[in-house]
Amino acid sequence: MTTTDRPRTPDPVPRTLQRPRRNRATPARRALVRETVLTPADLVLPLFVHDHPAEPIASMPGCFRQPIDGVVATAREAWALGIPAVAIFPKVPEPLKDPRGSAATDPEGLVPRTVRALKAALPGLVVITDVALDPYSSDGHDGVVEGSRILNDETLPLLAAMAVAQAQAGADLVAPSDMMDGRVAAIRTALDAAGFIEVGILSYCVKYASAFYGPFRDALDSAPRPGRPTDKLTYQMDPANVREGLREVALDEAEGADVLMVKPGLPYLDVIRQVREATALPVAAYHVSGEYAMLKAAADRGWLDYDKCLLESLVCLKRAGADMIFTYGAIDAARLLKAHVALR
Ligand code: PBG
Repeated sequence: MTTTDRPRTPDPVPRTLQRPRRNRATPARRALVRETVLTPADLVLPLFVHDHPAEPIASMPGCFRQPIDGVVATAREAWALGIPAVAIFPKVPEPLKDPRGSAATDPEGLVPRTVRALKAALPGLVVITDVALDPYSSDGHDGVVEGSRILNDETLPLLAAMAVAQAQAGADLVAPSDMMDGRVAAIRTALDAAGFIEVGILSYCVKYASAFYGPFRDALDSAPRPGRPTDKLTYQMDPANVREGLREVALDEAEGADVLMVKPGLPYLDVIRQVREATALPVAAYHVSGEYAMLKAAADRGWLDYDKCLLESLVCLKRAGADMIFTYGAIDAARLLKAHVALR
């Protein structure tokens, strides 16, 4: 008879008093102790609009450039699932692009028409519009280009006019993603002067010069043009820095921002945490195109479970400190959450 065959008697000295596994024993016990709960109300769905029939985006499987009625239909689906907000990104026809992104202020432009259609169909939906020149710029930069320089102060009035045009169309939040210095103040001043005191500013406050935006630039054909600076390193932040991001936080707070964003998402969880601790403002995180594309590509090869990796990515962004998350997987995630996939 070996020792293991004997009836178990309590150890005189327990092997361990601490057994964290007790709280993990069943789905219901795990639910009771779960610290972060992702809900569809945390999500923002980015949507691509153009004036042509729907067209899939090769590097973002499951995402489309859609005509306005398609965008409205997708927004309706998101809203029905409990997603409170969409963010609109236009693919502007090449002939309408110029160095100053003039099409951005046309009241009959793609974005104002889309915003009006969304607000008419879904008045409660939060509509967020992007403020930056790149989709409208024949140079493919977020500001006005002169030689090898991206001009800061010359760009500010253009961004302010763009934000006012979007507010006039009915945008709830304008979202400057350009990283020019002083743009939040310029936009706030212009919105207030035009009477749009209730239109908020969601600032892409700590936005890095990231290669994870690649698929997005394919979607909009908005990458820097030949002969122009090939990167955005003179305005977007160096991925190596975080203190610099806290400086951006202080400035955007002082300039009147309503929500502060960190972008990209998963590679920057430490930044999200530090921004969360540095401000009382709501914090947004952007699970960007490259992060989404990686999940889709790996899942396509059978290497990852897209559904599980998506929910895990989003809950981690929330755990790090994000109050809201922009993700191309918003509808997928909301469906999975409705099916209680999270209670495992
Ligand atoms: C444009 C803008 C970009 C993204 C959002 N707004 C691209 C860029 O800065 O080059 C990226 C979004 C994504 O990759 O999902 N200013």
